[in-house]
Amino acid sequence: MKREHWGSRIGLVLAVAGNAVGLGNFLRFPVQAAKHGGGAFMIPYFFAFLLLGIPLMWVEWTVGRFGGAKGHGTTPGMFDEMWKHPVSKYIGSIGVLLPLMIGIYYVYVMTWSLGYAIYSLFGKMNFSAFAQAKEFFNGYIGVAQNSYFHNIIPAYIFYLVGFALTVWVIMRGVSGGIEKLAKIAMPTLFIFAILLVVRVLTIGTPDPVHHPSWNINNGLGFMWNPRFDTLLDGSTWLAAAGQIFFTLSLGIGAIQCYASYVKEHEDIALAGLTTASTNEFAEVILGGTIAIPAAYAFFGPEISKIAGTFDLGFKTLPLVFAKIPLGNIFSALWFLLLFFAGITSSVALAQPPVAFLEDEFGLDRKKASLIVGIILFVFSQPVIFFLSHGFLDEIDWWMGTFGLAFFATLEIFIFNFAFGTKRGWEELHKGAQIKVPGIFYYIIRYITPLFLTFIFLYWALTDGKAKLLMEGVSATDRPYIILARVIILLFLVAGIVLVKIAWDRKQRGKEVDL
Ligand code: ALA
Repeated sequence: MKREHWGSRIGLVLAVAGNAVGLGNFLRFPVQAAKHGGGAFMIPYFFAFLLLGIPLMWVEWTVGRFGGAKGHGTTPGMFDEMWKHPVSKYIGSIGVLLPLMIGIYYVYVMTWSLGYAIYSLFGKMNFSAFAQAKEFFNGYIGVAQNSYFHNIIPAYIFYLVGFALTVWVIMRGVSGGIEKLAKIAMPTLFIFAILLVVRVLTIGTPDPVHHPSWNINNGLGFMWNPRFDTLLDGSTWLAAAGQIFFTLSLGIGAIQCYASYVKEHEDIALAGLTTASTNEFAEVILGGTIAIPAAYAFFGPEISKIAGTFDLGFKTLPLVFAKIPLGNIFSALWFLLLFFAGITSSVALAQPPVAFLEDEFGLDRKKASLIVGIILFVFSQPVIFFLSHGFLDEIDWWMGTFGLAFFATLEIFIFNFAFGTKRGWEELHKGAQIKVPGIFYYIIRYITPLFLTFIFLYWALTDGKAKLLMEGVSATDRPYIILARVIILLFLVAGIVLVKIAWDRKQRGKEVDL
């Protein structure tokens, strides 16, 4: 079957940037940076960017284009072509499992921002205290019944809309759906982000009488002034590496899949660099300027108590917007920005399983998208209804944090030691007008694998052990955590079985041909 291609170079770059730029840039990054030393966080962050982010980005583009040219859009087929060993395709199945499982909760979370955008527009979020914003949030996601929400139905309706949109886009295909979406969503997202940045930078000092030091300059200082002592803490370095993986969508299987649709002589060295830089611009410059500095100007250093990723975006910022002129419009812009960032990443998470069914089972795009849609829908139900029992967090930790480091470690070893760094380097430069500095050859071969192995082992032995033993999990939540694990295992086994069936079928096909 003839594989699809991206329609244009700009469409390709926007689509891959859309893949990377997501909720991670605008919600996860500011919280991580503020929590781990402000400006000092940028030191391990840039280390991780140079030693993990950029090298893995090039590796994944190379793996993707190489596999795509041989008819594979996902890592089972790609790894099988790179390493002629019976186990390689099964390792590759993780690159279909991860995006599918992350997609299960990502799509739901992304739709919260759609709901919030609409509520903002209709002026339903004029909170005057954090407690109100919290009540609204808890009511919306269905963990409490209160004066704002009696049930989860509104959130569920927004979920259905976002979910249907995701499936509709992937059903329309790579250039007809994903690329078109990126061409609309990405420029809109950047315009919204710039408008918000300008608004935030002109906030000044909201309450000069009572809190003269709570102003935007100090807010920027809070975000960026380095607190070097945090560098002595290993968790800062791990948080930085984790953020790099998540934000660049590395170690998931999603970048390889998009790269599999490039034409044979596309300059992937340049495209990889461009997408990584676009993501970093969106993350550090735009993401770093909006949420934390604005929140600081209104609430001062108290905001360091912000614990979770969602507290800042969904509880504190609506309070900020409630205090500024035309706040409901800016609030809507903020949540629409999150929605656009989210949906371009959601389709990127849904595409690998679709590509797997198309390429390895010969299904047509519509059928493959429908099957993936049904799986996403069925398994997002426990995410939606068991949210307060840690179900989402459990899947997020194993798939969205640990899983990425684990898979990227296996991938870099296959790339260097089975495929060969030299061959990979040549493959990366095929059709390239830029030459990647030679030092990256050695980084890819030695530093990245070492760094990755360290992170993966560290996570496995510390957080992983604690997670596995369910430390700190209440007796009420245990059954839900176990259910999450059973589902992960089920998917893992299903992935392996499907790969086996697909390869057996191909083998039989070849024998019949002979
Ligand atoms: N890279 C995507 C994000 O940052 C998954 O949200």
